[in-house]
Amino acid sequence: MTMSTSTPQDSPQTAHASHNIDTLQKRGKTFPPPPEFAANAIADAGLYEKARADRLGFWAEQAREILDWQKPFESVLDWSNPPFARWFADGELNVAYNCLDRHVLAGNGDRVAIHWEGEPGDSRTFTYAELTEKVKRAANVLEGLGIGAGDRVAIYLPMIPEAVISMLAVARIGAVHSVVFGGFSAESLRTRIDDAEAKLVITADGGWRKGKVFPLKPTVDTALGGEPSSVEHVLVVRRGENEIEWTDERDVWWHDAMDGADEEHEARGFEAEQPLYILYTSGTTGKPKGILHTSGGYLTQVAFTHRTVFDLHPETDVYWCTADVGWVTGHSYVVYGPLANGATQVMYEGTPDTPHPGRWWEIIQKYGVTIFYAAPTAIRSFMKLGREIPDAFDLSSLRVLGSVGEPINPEAWNWYRNVIGGGRTPIVDTWWQTETGAMMISPLPGVTATKPGSAQVPLPGISVDVRDDDGNPVPFGGGGLLVVTEPWPSMLRGIWGDPDRFVETYWEKFANVPGGPLYFAGDGARRDEDGDIWLLGRVDDVMNVSGHRLSTAEIESSLVSHPFVAEAAVVGASDETTGQAVVAFVILRADQAEAVSAEDASAILRHHVGQQIGAIARPRTIFVVTELPKTRSGKIMRRLLRDVAEGREIGDTTTLADTQVMQIISERLAQK
Ligand code: WTA
Repeated sequence: MTMSTSTPQDSPQTAHASHNIDTLQKRGKTFPPPPEFAANAIADAGLYEKARADRLGFWAEQAREILDWQKPFESVLDWSNPPFARWFADGELNVAYNCLDRHVLAGNGDRVAIHWEGEPGDSRTFTYAELTEKVKRAANVLEGLGIGAGDRVAIYLPMIPEAVISMLAVARIGAVHSVVFGGFSAESLRTRIDDAEAKLVITADGGWRKGKVFPLKPTVDTALGGEPSSVEHVLVVRRGENEIEWTDERDVWWHDAMDGADEEHEARGFEAEQPLYILYTSGTTGKPKGILHTSGGYLTQVAFTHRTVFDLHPETDVYWCTADVGWVTGHSYVVYGPLANGATQVMYEGTPDTPHPGRWWEIIQKYGVTIFYAAPTAIRSFMKLGREIPDAFDLSSLRVLGSVGEPINPEAWNWYRNVIGGGRTPIVDTWWQTETGAMMISPLPGVTATKPGSAQVPLPGISVDVRDDDGNPVPFGGGGLLVVTEPWPSMLRGIWGDPDRFVETYWEKFANVPGGPLYFAGDGARRDEDGDIWLLGRVDDVMNVSGHRLSTAEIESSLVSHPFVAEAAVVGASDETTGQAVVAFVILRADQAEAVSAEDASAILRHHVGQQIGAIARPRTIFVVTELPKTRSGKIMRRLLRDVAEGREIGDTTTLADTQVMQIISERLAQK
């Protein structure tokens, strides 16, 4: 563990190992916290000691200190039926009350909760008092539409304040939201609506993106067309002002309903294990998993981590997380963490480069953002464009920078710190997942001497380890699989409607090993000589494109659903900017191979995947081939396809059923 006490100044280390990561580690400097920062920091090294001495006592104390409980809990963790955890189970609270009303009652009603910036340049500001009033009204609207505790509500909205208001209104009445990212297709939306049996969809006519309005309500109409669904109503926010169709008995304008709603609403307490939301994420099979999170433990850990990892001083800080609420980062670090902590935050509707490539930095300057949280992909894109763009803005308000979603390479880390952070700001590289609900591994600014490229240490109260394939601990300096060894408050409580898949996916691999059952994260990791953790990417068939999770199986089944395609294989090829990129290899059906050119086929298929799953899943490249490399047992050898996709020399082909295949593929591709 790298603490400021053990590394008083920059400590260049000697290089001797040949392995790439080794070299990076050995060459790396560490950056101790600036003394002025450490002097005022929320976190101190004592937190680790405290949590180590009594992990459950530590979390109980956080839960009591950070949150308001309508009925205090006695039970901290019930792990009598692993892997099904129950945290603070006999306590009761209201999540929305904790994010809103209590700040108003404490005299902070006039504090700004959200500075919202629309892509075309319009803006809106909500104080805590205003946001509370909106959420109370929206809660009444939902109840008026027949939504009650436990019912599921799908939310398909752009990054507008109504997304936050909707989520909190659903939480306030004990219902369960399922936010679907606005970039997903009608078909993906429908699958998610059906799986959760949502009674209501909240959407908008459209939203702004890259200077244009993209339609949302028409996609909802398509999703709900055809077979009857569980959906009774569609609540529609007006944002895009685009033309939409209207189904009188089903559709309701948000503004009409809100105007007519009562502005008083009592926040009733719900059990700590009341489901809060379902969020679908890609797994190793074609069907997305509905990750289930509940209330008390989740809110405790998102609020605790938001406060300590970002060193949040709610009276003075202006916080900005650039994630969309359609992803878990938006749930935990746009909605629940910051609002539970009474933070002032910026929310931005559009893309970083619209209408000009300095838009993000302009927003930081405009609002005096002090804490900024973004994904490495974005940082790498800005690096490519050159420092003149950020240099044209005053970024001196920044004091903490965060990174999430994928490994951040040391070059990007250093650029982020020097160019965006003026060489002063601590960088917190936070590792976590949809499933973990909140951050798990990260330095603490003010405590940890940071190391470019490494997420470093588990947070206080979190126990992780690196194990080999048989579950044995890996010594410092070695690599293996990342596991979580003890239950944590914000852990997923299951996969919606599929307890067996929950057990199989995360708990079976390391069920009977020392200290088990252990949670298998699906990530490769390495510990350096200091014990710091380096994340090495997914070890399963999940790709990480621009920090978004995509499943190879899901894209493959979309490709083969097209009448042109006989067989398809998808790999994540490394990409300088997006981390990984989707690359597909397809074999066309014999009757099509003659009729359509490879160029046309790939254009048609890219469009098809965009229609079926969403634009983010569209392959960057599609290679039309006549064979796929397979083992004798018929398994596609993705490793070899990755070699082709990344333009590398092809690796060992001796286990192929037909050793000629790779030669044929490479020759064919070389001819193009
Ligand atoms: C990857 C996003 C390295 C990892 C919060 C994980 C990271 C997956 C980091 C989860 C990080 C996330 N360093 N890799 N700091 N953060 N990942 O569910 O592979 O969208 O398993 O959650 O992103 O992606 P998800």
